[in-house]
Amino acid sequence: MVFNPLEHPVCLEFPRWLDETAWGEHIPFAMFLTSVMRPQTFVELGACRGVSYCAFCQAVKSLKAETKCYAVDTWRGDAHAGELEEDVLTKLKAYHDPLYAGFSRLVQSTFDDALKHFADNSVDLLHIDGFHSYEAVCHDFETWLPKMSAKGIVLFHDTNVHERNFGVWKFWAEMKEKYRHFEFLHGHGLGVLAVGEEVAKELEFLFKADAGETKLIREFFHQLGTRVFSAQKIHEQQSLIESLQKYIENLQTYERVVQNSKTMRIYRILKDEGVGSLMKKGMKKIGQDE
Ligand SMILES: C[S@@+](CC[C@H](N)C(=O)[O-])C[C@H]1O[C@@H](n2cnc3c(N)ncnc32)[C@H](O)[C@@H]1O
Repeated sequence: MVFNPLEHPVCLEFPRWLDETAWGEHIPFAMFLTSVMRPQTFVELGACRGVSYCAFCQAVKSLKAETKCYAVDTWRGDAHAGELEEDVLTKLKAYHDPLYAGFSRLVQSTFDDALKHFADNSVDLLHIDGFHSYEAVCHDFETWLPKMSAKGIVLFHDTNVHERNFGVWKFWAEMKEKYRHFEFLHGHGLGVLAVGEEVAKELEFLFKADAGETKLIREFFHQLGTRVFSAQKIHEQQSLIESLQKYIENLQTYERVVQNSKTMRIYRILKDEGVGSLMKKGMKKIGQDE
């Protein structure tokens, strides 16, 4: 099966929503996959600031696909992602709802509690990006597997992270023995697992790739991802510059307040004209001038 990216130009779209994330480099593949699969139902476990999730939504909207999308997260963070600021969900909603509320929901819930909202065999595409310990990813996969349809593809982020008690790599090694698969190594690793019996024919090139093709496919999506990564870095620098500018403005205001204070006026008289002058001008008058 020949892979023709020109048939899926959505993978060249630039993400409209960028924020802090370790996922940015996979956005071109996420958009490509959405274009190939046109899933009926897409679920993301672990949306956080919404970078990966909004990329899927953007592709669905651009493609005019009939996909229903759901992001499940407590929006509290976890031991790997850290604690989230209170306004993360509010900011994400403000961006997401006007654009995507017609086909997408942000579900504030634990992954386990959300299970009851989804029928068995109903999810075509599942992205697991929650807590990354071996036990957590095992649990998330096993509990959500019955929800997967015959077209089912499961994505795992962080298959290539071997630190801080991340265990997706270990779980991925076990999954590779059981299911057809493809793994991207860049962007902390993204595993693509074919759990359904009727996975889109157009994805066969991934699962049948030999060593040389695997290298090229990885390189192709890595190169596209690098473009997003650079933009993300610029975005982060701009946010940093904006917060530094605010900090400088606050310092300047504070400096003006200090310079105009009574204490500074007394100090200047003492320094330039001495105690006698200060006595002459009188504390009372200075007080009236304030
Ligand atoms: C690595 S972040 C997701 C990153 C995101 N996909 C992106 O594009 O940057 C993991 C998220 O999973 C959420 N999470 C972890 N375990 C969870 C659970 N059991 N139920 C609900 N949310 C969970 C955390 O709140 C955190 O926001």
